Amino acid sequence: MVERAGRVEGKVAIVTGAGSTPGPGIGTGKGSAVVLAREGASVLLVDLHPDRAEATRTMIEDEGGKAEVFGADVTSAADCEAMVAAAVEAFGTVDILVNNVGLASLGTVVDATEEAWDRALNINLRSVFLSSKYAVPVMAAKGAGSIVNISSISAVRGDGTIAYSAAKGGVLAMTADMAYSHGRQGIRVNAIAPGHITTPMVASVSGGGAQADFGNRMRNEAGLLGTPGTGWDVGWAAAFLASDEARWITGVTLPVDSGVLSVTPLLMAQYLRAVR
Ligand SMILES: NC(=O)c1ccc[n+]([C@@H]2O[C@H](COP(=O)([O-])OP(=O)(O)OC[C@H]3O[C@@H](n4cnc5c(N)ncnc54)[C@H](O)[C@@H]3O)[C@@H](O)[C@H]2O)c1
Repeated sequence: MVERAGRVEGKVAIVTGAGSTPGPGIGTGKGSAVVLAREGASVLLVDLHPDRAEATRTMIEDEGGKAEVFGADVTSAADCEAMVAAAVEAFGTVDILVNNVGLASLGTVVDATEEAWDRALNINLRSVFLSSKYAVPVMAAKGAGSIVNISSISAVRGDGTIAYSAAKGGVLAMTADMAYSHGRQGIRVNAIAPGHITTPMVASVSGGGAQADFGNRMRNEAGLLGTPGTGWDVGWAAAFLASDEARWITGVTLPVDSGVLSVTPLLMAQYLRAVR
């Protein structure tokens, strides 16, 4: 029998936001961390709420994987520097960084407050800047690394979330810029644009009962497949982009969205009318 190694066997990964908002289902950071561990990586689980990351560690260790928890606020430069140092201390290096932390922010350009704007850009964009700032030199020193930035389809489709969309668009711009700047150092940088996936964070803001059921049905039906997406779907994509199987892929954005970005709203509206 051929012994198969995991896709990221022996590599060291940092996943930011590796906990999950309490509730049913799984967040994209938790999904990414668990899949990377299943595929052979040692994972530093970074979260503002260490108890949430502890739950991820328990899940990984119960499956025989390796992980450590690091409590940090990734909008803080000092915390990001300490986070990278913690990965090096615990596991010897950093091969993979999944910049997953992010938070939705509702409101148009007229009704979003300055505070909401600053908060959204801090959590969704500054976090990617600071985490990468300290991880890239470690990767550059060894001539290899892979960064996966979690953006959103909101980066390229309007949905009334001006600050969130701007920040997630910024993540795509940073992905291209970092891929250019660090390609010759052996570092690949890619983004994932999740669509209307159903995570505990979404469930926590979508009310309950019939209202939540309706919201979930709409989210599912907006995609070409008509099925729900989860944090696992993002985790599987992140593990692929992080792995050497993606060794010639850099600077791209992979939508994980049931085809939402590939269809015109007009055709989707016609389709939905036909199936009602
Ligand atoms: N859920 C969706 O439909 C969807 C769609 C597109 C993109 N995304 C993106 O996926 C990512 C994760 O979303 P999720 O729904 O899994 O969220 P989640 O709330 O389940 O997980 C995010 C984790 O990040 C942690 N966190 C928040 N701020 C932090 C900070 N400053 N420092 C460290 N940790 C922090 C939280 O404690 C939480 O455990 C985000 O970037 C989000 O924008 C989600």
